[in-house]
Amino acid sequence: VRSIHIGMLGLGNVGQGVLRILAENGAAIQDRIAAEPVIGRVLVRDLAKARELEVDPALLTLDPDDILEDPDVRVVVELIGGIEPARTYVLRALEAGKHVVTANKALLAERGEELFAAAAARGLSIYFEGSVAGGIPVLRALREGLASDRIDRVIGIVNGTSNYILDAMSRTGASYEQALAAAQAAGFAEADPTLDVEGGDAAHKLALLTLVCVGVRVDPDQIHTDGITRVRPFDIRMAAELGYVIKSLAIGEFGDGRPRLRVHPTFVPRDHILAGVHGSYNAVEVSSRALGQSMYYGKGAGMMPTGVAVVSDIIEVCRDIVGFSEGGPPPGAF
Ligand code: HSE
Repeated sequence: VRSIHIGMLGLGNVGQGVLRILAENGAAIQDRIAAEPVIGRVLVRDLAKARELEVDPALLTLDPDDILEDPDVRVVVELIGGIEPARTYVLRALEAGKHVVTANKALLAERGEELFAAAAARGLSIYFEGSVAGGIPVLRALREGLASDRIDRVIGIVNGTSNYILDAMSRTGASYEQALAAAQAAGFAEADPTLDVEGGDAAHKLALLTLVCVGVRVDPDQIHTDGITRVRPFDIRMAAELGYVIKSLAIGEFGDGRPRLRVHPTFVPRDHILAGVHGSYNAVEVSSRALGQSMYYGKGAGMMPTGVAVVSDIIEVCRDIVGFSEGGPPPGAF
């Protein structure tokens, strides 16, 4: 079985999830793709940092060149987050002929044009399933499962933090501030939750959903974005009295080829399927011409859920690299 060398940038929550999944499911993955993805080096900022997962110290490096300039590395997995230095590293990886897997929605939504162009110029792939709705394979469903259909609309609960806070407000009558503090205490919200609660994270994800649905690149700054910080208990009570719950939705309408995109708190009828998405779960409802409505639901964040999406992207790149001519399984075998 051929080994495919992979370098990983970042060893936070998701990076540790990736290592765990490869350790636990590696044998089955090898059987499935007739190749062995091997994580050779992992770029970290602190060699001595205490981590949930025990990691072989020989894997860790402080020097990105150990990955970006290693000719054996075929795939770079970027899990640093944010724009810089992730952008520079991804560009360097592509310039060196390496495929890229990333879960970084901010990077792709803000700088996707430059990165996808750099990949296309060299016939390389950028896979990014983990960047939208964590472990739910919604991008793959849109790109492959619905490749034969025409997608008219997506409506998503794609920010788990906002959903967790609104859900807590509705269940307990808590104020926004109290629900945010509880979400932070429970580890569901970042210490600086701005990007989540102001809707920026959902706007990034909506821009990527739009790219996959209709191939149109949208500047996330052009998306009408309204966060959840001004939702009051009174609004939630009023909604409940009228038979609604308030959800923060990312809505993309593509009917006439010109995407109309927005992110905002929305009254959702109590018996609508999206009203039943609780806690930090994510869901995306897709309307397409031939299939009609379909729904993608599950955990939108976290070590193992997002790890699943990233490892599935690694598998897909390995399949591309191995190809059928090199003894890989026949198409559709698994
Ligand atoms: N902060 C994000 C959320 C994590 O709350 O959904 C996953 O992108």
